[in-house]
Amino acid sequence: MKIVVIGGTGLIGSKVVTKLGEHGHEAVAASPNSGVDTLTGEGLDEVLVGADVVIDVSNSPSFEDAAVLDFFTRATTNILAAEAKAGVGHHVALSVVGTERLTDSGYMRAKVVQENLIKKSKIPYSIVHATQFFEFFKSIARGATVGDEVRLSSASVQPMAADEVASAVGRVSVGAPLNGTVEIGGPEVFTLADFIARGLKAHQDPRAVVVDDGAPYFGAILSGRELVPSDDAQRAETTFDAWLAVDVVSGPKP
Ligand SMILES: NC(=O)c1ccc[n+]([C@@H]2O[C@H](COP(=O)([O-])OP(=O)(O)OC[C@H]3O[C@@H](n4cnc5c(N)ncnc54)[C@H](OP(=O)(O)O)[C@@H]3O)[C@@H](O)[C@H]2O)c1
Repeated sequence: MKIVVIGGTGLIGSKVVTKLGEHGHEAVAASPNSGVDTLTGEGLDEVLVGADVVIDVSNSPSFEDAAVLDFFTRATTNILAAEAKAGVGHHVALSVVGTERLTDSGYMRAKVVQENLIKKSKIPYSIVHATQFFEFFKSIARGATVGDEVRLSSASVQPMAADEVASAVGRVSVGAPLNGTVEIGGPEVFTLADFIARGLKAHQDPRAVVVDDGAPYFGAILSGRELVPSDDAQRAETTFDAWLAVDVVSGPKP
């Protein structure tokens, strides 16, 4: 199958392209780096010629509320319109577990707009809701750092390895469209504060993690289990400790 991966040069996208290629599919990475810009529409019609499936794992370069809303609204509208013209039979998008519960977050509101545009379009679709990527612990720590403290909520998270997010997205993309949403999460539940503390400790980062239930996450105050998938979600296997053992040797510093 020809599968176009919008955002195919990103963290998840590059893994999806590799995995689909290994399974014998023609996986094409599409992003500004490869001459495809979903905001302007440049290169979109050309890359979709003959495509069976489109996977959208792109992300907004800016997480500022208005910019991220504009990104997911314009990009999704342009992608879906180009898919309709090209006769694409399956649109797959990656979103976040709990988007609909985090209405105080501008980022999550923009992801809900993306999801609703997909649901309203006539293109058969599948939406994958994933939990926080292990890889993301460094940006969460950076965003929550005040002086030499990292202030984070005690709300629950069930993070997972980006590699397994990519596998899940790839699997869904080669199956029949779900016309619905599937959830995937990691094997363990932590508090958000403990998740980040474990990552920083493994990297011998001196910052102290302080539990602060008033500290916002992407603009939203968490109250408990908003970021945790339902009991029937798919479960990834890689534990955070196993992932960290590799990351401390070969990953970038937090
Ligand atoms: N972070 C998490 O924990 C988490 C959890 C669940 C779901 N997600 C979702 O996962 C998705 C992928 O995240 P990621 O971390 O893999 O993203 P990423 O590494 O930041 O990659 C973003 C990709 O989007 C592309 N892109 C940016 N502007 C574009 C444009 N105008 N047209 C086409 N492509 C464009 C980039 O292309 P260039 O390389 O050419 O700039 C890049 O390939 C996001 O939608 C996010 O909401 C994230």
